[in-house]
Amino acid sequence: MIDSTVRSDTARIESVVILGGGTAGWMAASYLKKAFPDIRITLLEAPGLPKIGVGEATIPNLQSVFFDFLGIPEQEWMRECNASFKCGIKFKNWRQPPAVNPHESYYHLFGILKACDGLPLSHYWSLNRERGDDEPFAYACYREPPLLDAKLSPRTRDFRRTMYYAWHFDAHLVAAYLCRVATGWGVEHIQDRLTRVEREADGAIAALHTEQGRRLDGDLFIDCSGFRRLLVGEALGEPFLDMSDYLLCDGAVASPVPHDDAANGVEPFTSSIARDAGWTWKVPLLGRFGSGYVYSSHFVSEDGAIRDFCRLWGLDPDTTRFNKIRFRVGRNRRSWVRNCVSIGLSSCFLEPLESTGIYFIYAALYQLAKHFPDRTFDPVLADRFNEAIEVMYDDSRDFVQMHYCCSPREDTPFWRANRHDLRISDSLRHKLESYKAGLPVNMPITDVDGYYTNFEAEFQNFWTNGSFYCILAGLGSHPDRILPRLRHAVGSQQTAAGMFANIKRESAELAATLPTNYDFLMEFHSRRPAQPAGSELAGMAR
Ligand code: TRP
Repeated sequence: MIDSTVRSDTARIESVVILGGGTAGWMAASYLKKAFPDIRITLLEAPGLPKIGVGEATIPNLQSVFFDFLGIPEQEWMRECNASFKCGIKFKNWRQPPAVNPHESYYHLFGILKACDGLPLSHYWSLNRERGDDEPFAYACYREPPLLDAKLSPRTRDFRRTMYYAWHFDAHLVAAYLCRVATGWGVEHIQDRLTRVEREADGAIAALHTEQGRRLDGDLFIDCSGFRRLLVGEALGEPFLDMSDYLLCDGAVASPVPHDDAANGVEPFTSSIARDAGWTWKVPLLGRFGSGYVYSSHFVSEDGAIRDFCRLWGLDPDTTRFNKIRFRVGRNRRSWVRNCVSIGLSSCFLEPLESTGIYFIYAALYQLAKHFPDRTFDPVLADRFNEAIEVMYDDSRDFVQMHYCCSPREDTPFWRANRHDLRISDSLRHKLESYKAGLPVNMPITDVDGYYTNFEAEFQNFWTNGSFYCILAGLGSHPDRILPRLRHAVGSQQTAAGMFANIKRESAELAATLPTNYDFLMEFHSRRPAQPAGSELAGMAR
């Protein structure tokens, strides 16, 4: 006999209420409406609330996992959102302070390293290094570094892709665009303020009450209320696990910075510039770049951070308007509690060092659609969802922490604390131990030539061996020894030498054919050099 609850159609979720009209709220609304068109979806947005989104950097699977799922071609949303290309992150002064070497830098690139005889190219690079070759890791193992140095576009003029890349954009524009998409698909948009959360006898959320007297009832509630965690935290009381013993930064000051693109070109990458008490991001958009100083309030005051930021970019601290953000690193013990799923900043926060903010949103939406409940709310679905979010977050926190705890910098109290005083998870210790012993850190699993086509595989193995090498080798932290078996693989060493040579040849061919990133973006966005970009500029510094 089949249990009648199993076949019952009456338990289906009929309506979903989303609280919050920021990036997470509109990504959730559009994604869930696409995944479940028969469900009634309502989004409640408090009018006039400031949104956290600043200049954002993303990762490549934003297109395949999110926009392709919505059925929106890259060129369409890119134009609507004034997006630019990001082919990786350039880390500056993470190894040496600017006083010692103002030009010290390394790249973190996308794509998975090719393997030879079951070992990734990183390992052959280590062997060559031992033999006296001093070429930096990323320049030996990827085609991109010289192309990024030359500020070239990852797309040819006829929009052919030649590199793995992601995007930079102003998250406000993406939220506004997805609002148009979602409401066009039938999502109801209510601008009103939450006043009270009505609960069921069993503790679940029954409805949201608003200032104008509305009662929004639903089967499932999505908390996209940002740092305030109004549903999952305030109403349901789920504890937030503070992880400030892993990462010291707890604030940011941000502002757009005007930029003369015609004179300097547009860098096709994010920069992360290490400073005395944190680091500064640089997200190039047409006509300006988004920037912010992520700092630790234990080591510099907000005013001190603003002064340092202005000194870096030659701005006047008295006339520049800043977006001032304080944050708490960590996550909810459970992201999904009863009939409430938190997504975005209400679920977890990690400093934006590796561009995980928007990724965390659509990864959670993907997991929610995969584990989507009915009104019986089988706890196993929520448990599996929560486990996935936990691994996603904690692994990423470890990876971000690795930049700090493996940096050799000792020149300020902040950097000394990073090196000596941080709590390090067993999982990160284990990975660093494997790295030091010459083993690949996360064994690369790829479907197709150098990248994932399957999000399940990518999600499981998000921080690849190549990512670990980009950062650790970049910081000057090398394996203690070459993996013994590699010394016996003489034939493979020869094959690898051919692969290294191919990378150089392909890179040179691309350098000769690709347009500059500036030329490509100007044409793509139909801009004329004289017309300054940035009608949104005024609104951004709020
Ligand atoms: N697997 C992710 C990717 O390649 C890893 C990643 C996240 C990453 N953020 C990044 C790689 C920033 C390079 C730069 O997309």
